[in-house]
Amino acid sequence: MIQVKHLSHSFGRHWVLKNISFSLDKGDFLFLTGPSGAGKTTLLRVLHGSLALQRGRVLIAGFDLKTLPEKRLYQLRRQVAIVFQDFRILPDKSVRDNVALPLQVRGMISGQVQKRVRAVLRGLHLDRKAGHLCREISGGEQQRVAVARAVVTNPKVLLADEPTGNLDKKLSMQLMEVFRQFHIHGTTVVLATHSENLINSLPGAKILCLKDGSATESSWNAGEEECAY
Ligand SMILES: Nc1ncnc2c1ncn2[C@@H]1O[C@H](COP(=O)(O)OP(=O)(O)O)[C@@H](O)[C@H]1O
Ligand SMILES: [Mg+2]
Repeated sequence: MIQVKHLSHSFGRHWVLKNISFSLDKGDFLFLTGPSGAGKTTLLRVLHGSLALQRGRVLIAGFDLKTLPEKRLYQLRRQVAIVFQDFRILPDKSVRDNVALPLQVRGMISGQVQKRVRAVLRGLHLDRKAGHLCREISGGEQQRVAVARAVVTNPKVLLADEPTGNLDKKLSMQLMEVFRQFHIHGTTVVLATHSENLINSLPGAKILCLKDGSATESSWNAGEEECAY
């Protein structure tokens, strides 16, 4: 589902990612970890096609980022969804409208949109907030709206950039359960996090540890040594 080979990325003369390679199958779960500034967000943005591929190969959800023209990026985004660290939801729209948006832009008919949105909001315990404006709900709820909006289209790949960053332990674990469910049902998940608790909660997951731009792919035991920050 995802194959990254010899990926490098620089901002000016600063090489943020150096020669990264890893591959994930359908339904794999990868924790992307490493200290602040290690390049986690940069890697997610390259996978999502929002930063142009500079060096190396990336195959994701059947797309080759090296040859994919910009005008076809929207097709990639139908299969590869992202939860941004800063949510990027629309504050003056309701929870329901925010989550419906990706389905509406795909041209889904209104009845189906409402049905799907209701199901996703229920799954994220947001059903009672459906009519609220996003600026009137809590940070934790806004974070879940961002997740709902990413998963409402049933993407093949779900990328999430520190999605539990602002949540307490209980809410983090609840949200982690949502990601786990998608993983169990065959979605490939890449989740950037600092949280050892989160990584511990899914022993079967792969771990990619970024440090000084290079990556170590670890099993959990090796990860414990190498990813202890
Ligand atoms: N748009 C940008 N322009 C210049 N430097 C950037 C940009 N985005 C990120 N960086 C730099 O790249 C490095 C990695 O950043 P980032 O991918 O955000 O790391 P992380 O998500 O692991 O904290 C940092 O040194 C950061 O300052
Ligand atoms: Mg980041």
